[in-house]
Amino acid sequence: MDEQGRIIDNCIIGEENVTIKPFVHLKRSIIRNGCLIESFSYIYGAQIGENVKIMGNNHIPASIVIDRNTTICPGVIFTNAKYTGNHFKDRKETRISIDWVTVVGKGVTIGAGSVIGAGIEIGDGAFVGMGSIVTKNVAPNAIVYGNPARRQDLDEWGAPKVVKKND
Ligand SMILES: CC(C)(COP(=O)(O)OP(=O)(O)OC[C@H]1O[C@@H](n2cnc3c(N)ncnc32)[C@H](O)[C@@H]1OP(=O)(O)O)[C@@H](O)C(=O)NCCC(=O)NCCS
Repeated sequence: MDEQGRIIDNCIIGEENVTIKPFVHLKRSIIRNGCLIESFSYIYGAQIGENVKIMGNNHIPASIVIDRNTTICPGVIFTNAKYTGNHFKDRKETRISIDWVTVVGKGVTIGAGSVIGAGIEIGDGAFVGMGSIVTKNVAPNAIVYGNPARRQDLDEWGAPKVVKKND
């Protein structure tokens, strides 16, 4: 642990413009240039692309890949196993495996306090509202939120909603 309370163990960290705030724990991860990692985040076995902002109190475990220019707001939890603990012991999917890799695209925002299921793909430019439970893939540029998160930028016919201003 360094004098700022940070633990950085076996990581590859970009040499340009990376800020790692106090009390961050990084283990076996790749952090590319331009990233900001705010305090009390725990990141292990993850790959973080260029210019990604990870706000405070994030949990980003193994099998998570985040592409460039994405923002992860405070308190987001990524999971990397769907069937856990004493339950589901007989299911082979209990193990962390390649099937459960979660990929977050470029220019995505994930709102504060959201939970992202294992093996989810979140497309480029998508927006996940605060407090969402994301159980299915999110299409590029989609807006999703809620528990479970549902697409909010399309009407019931699947057409883009007309957004009216000032009424
Ligand atoms: C609850 C759980 C076991 C259900 O798994 P499952 O039976 O395979 O369920 P499915 O993925 O087929 O989803 C079935 C429905 O429940 C919804 N759903 C699943 N998990 C949900 C959750 N945690 N909260 C809200 N809705 C949930 C799905 O959106 C889907 O809804 P739909 O039928 O309207 O489309 C799993 O989603 C879960 O929460 N696992 C725990 C993960 C975890 O905490 N890991 C920590 C270790 S890293």
